[in-house]
Amino acid sequence: MIQSMPPGSRLPSYRDLQQRYRLSPATVQRILADLSRRGLLVTRPGSGTYTAQRRQPAALADVSWQTLALGSRTGLSVDLERLVDPGPADSLPLTSGFLDERLQPLGLLAAAGARSSRRPQAWSRLPPQGLPELRAFFAAETGGSMTGQNVVITPGGQAALSAVFRHLCAPGDPVILESPTYVGAIAVARAAGLHLVPVPGDREGVLPDALADALARTGARLVYLQPRYSNPAGAVLAPDRRMTVLEAVARHGAFLLEDDWMRDFDLGPPSPPPMTSMDDDGHVIYLRSLSKPVAPGMRVAGLAARGPVLARLRLGRISDDLFVAPVLQQVALEVLTAPGWTRHLGSIRRLLRDRRDALVAAISAALPDCEVPLVPAGGVHVWLRLPERWSDVEVADLAAARGLSLSPGSMSFPSEPPGPYLRLSYSAAEPQELVRAVQILAGILG
Ligand SMILES: Cc1ncc(COP(=O)(O)O)c(C=O)c1O
Repeated sequence: MIQSMPPGSRLPSYRDLQQRYRLSPATVQRILADLSRRGLLVTRPGSGTYTAQRRQPAALADVSWQTLALGSRTGLSVDLERLVDPGPADSLPLTSGFLDERLQPLGLLAAAGARSSRRPQAWSRLPPQGLPELRAFFAAETGGSMTGQNVVITPGGQAALSAVFRHLCAPGDPVILESPTYVGAIAVARAAGLHLVPVPGDREGVLPDALADALARTGARLVYLQPRYSNPAGAVLAPDRRMTVLEAVARHGAFLLEDDWMRDFDLGPPSPPPMTSMDDDGHVIYLRSLSKPVAPGMRVAGLAARGPVLARLRLGRISDDLFVAPVLQQVALEVLTAPGWTRHLGSIRRLLRDRRDALVAAISAALPDCEVPLVPAGGVHVWLRLPERWSDVEVADLAAARGLSLSPGSMSFPSEPPGPYLRLSYSAAEPQELVRAVQILAGILG
């Protein structure tokens, strides 16, 4: 009724309103008070209640002034946005490294969620560093001498990467990244205004000599690596390279940020323990996120460090966003320590193995001109080299038009890519969907 009355119209009296709409006096009063709070009514004492003047929004707002106000900040890229966008509901999802609902521990999450939200402290404050028992869990799993005191809980791996890059480096500082690497790490480094120094890797991870050379040449104080099933190439840093890498990092007085994002995703024999377990002197900053093994909405990660850098990260995280929702930390702890968790992990590993095998078999049968440089022994991605004549972006666009979402490899390179690649993720598609995806690709590549 209010919307249809011209501004400045007088409302019927309370009594009329009660009779017309058969409402109690209290209800009429509540509705009018609510409309006044929303600015739709004004009360003139002694005169009555009137409809308020309404501001007509401009048909075409002029926001062009913002161009000048914002300036040209080049650091932010849309690549990461594309990666986390769920995409069209009916497309084959080979972009995301997150597990789909079929592989998420929904029962454990529901039970842990119900229990955690009923705890009296569920909505109170925690120590900003995080829930002590959860920190102790992360520390114990590093396999070294860390304790819960060394761990800071962050709202996911991305937030931790952002904290490390921003609080340990200043704009313009060099940061060394294995190339190719995680799109989100490139995005964070660019957003922090850092100078990206790519160092190549091969089937056994980053090349130690090239890394030592880059450290010497650039004076970088931070190296970012994923030694276990690197994203996107799937390499595990070979055991005999690990000490050489650590020695180079230590010799140059640098930090190594070890992003152990695939800690739970060995699809065959166990991969080596975290590199942080080989370091006593605080060179390795260790990161383990739960969004991959649990669910994308589990925005919880543990960031572990030793020495003054821990204080820097702890204070940095507090200045970023105080602390992570206690209830979510409690849910995380309950899931990770539930009797069914290890069984659940075993079953998702089996299903992921089936998916990987189906994808790799379909590629070798239907895409003879493409190459899988490394069949990953774990993780969730297959890194596919396209024939030289193709552009990865063009193939990804053609695939999207045919209902298949995948990631062009160029997004994963901090600089010009050495060739056209695609990243195919098997964490959100069933084997038969993966086979269909490969058939679509075969149709495109002819
Ligand atoms: C290698 C790597 N590190 C970190 C992240 C970010 O993890 P989170 O979802 O916990 O923010 C991702 C997400 O895809 C990733 O692939």
